[in-house]
Amino acid sequence: MENFDPIQVEDEFQWLLSPIRTAFEEIRPLGFFSWVDELKSPQQFAPVAKQIYFHSSTFPKAIGLMLSMIPVERGEVYKVVSEHAYEEADHHLLLLDWMLQQGILQNKSEINKIQPFIETSNCINIGYQYAIERDINAWMAGINGAIEYCFYHFFEKVSKKMHQLGAGHHYFDVHVGADQYHSVMGLKHIEMGGLSAAGRDQLVRKSLNCVSLWTTMVHSWLGISVIPVFTLEGKRR
Ligand SMILES: [Fe+2]
Ligand SMILES: [Fe+2]
Repeated sequence: MENFDPIQVEDEFQWLLSPIRTAFEEIRPLGFFSWVDELKSPQQFAPVAKQIYFHSSTFPKAIGLMLSMIPVERGEVYKVVSEHAYEEADHHLLLLDWMLQQGILQNKSEINKIQPFIETSNCINIGYQYAIERDINAWMAGINGAIEYCFYHFFEKVSKKMHQLGAGHHYFDVHVGADQYHSVMGLKHIEMGGLSAAGRDQLVRKSLNCVSLWTTMVHSWLGISVIPVFTLEGKRR
């Protein structure tokens, strides 16, 4: 496991974590979270589950690409990225298991007929983009710091709801702890040396774009069209 002091990371990266958290509180009332509150059956979650399957099955591949693009000179980052890839590797299989249990799918091959929405692809593609650009800073700030943070709240809520509905599953439960950890695990690898105030702002903007992509994605799953734009402090513009 990646070795870091969470309190020190919290302190050192307030400038990044604070706008991400503010932005998340801004998007919390947009509809997705109250929709989860009102779920009456696990089957109602089917449209979300089918799209998130695409995210869960593609994410480890994007992380794998990031790993392969890290310059040798940054070899100290290999471990945390490969750990992340490993921890995500079977999540889509867990979700498949849950969907079969709940009768959302009749057989495994049905899932391959599902087309990801462009909003789902967009949220994954930002990971591929940062990997191809070899942008370790943007990866740690945007993919880990922002998207994993949003997913942590997503799974915290959904996991609890599924238990209430008698449809709890390891797929949902494992993400509560995992995504909270994923949201801070790699931050210490953000290269601060040579990062000017403008460079920091740019990194904050990249992270807020990730919050935006995530928000657009989860709401598109419910047919809600929203593209939030944030100030540098994470307030909605
Ligand atoms: Fe996952
Ligand atoms: Fe995760």
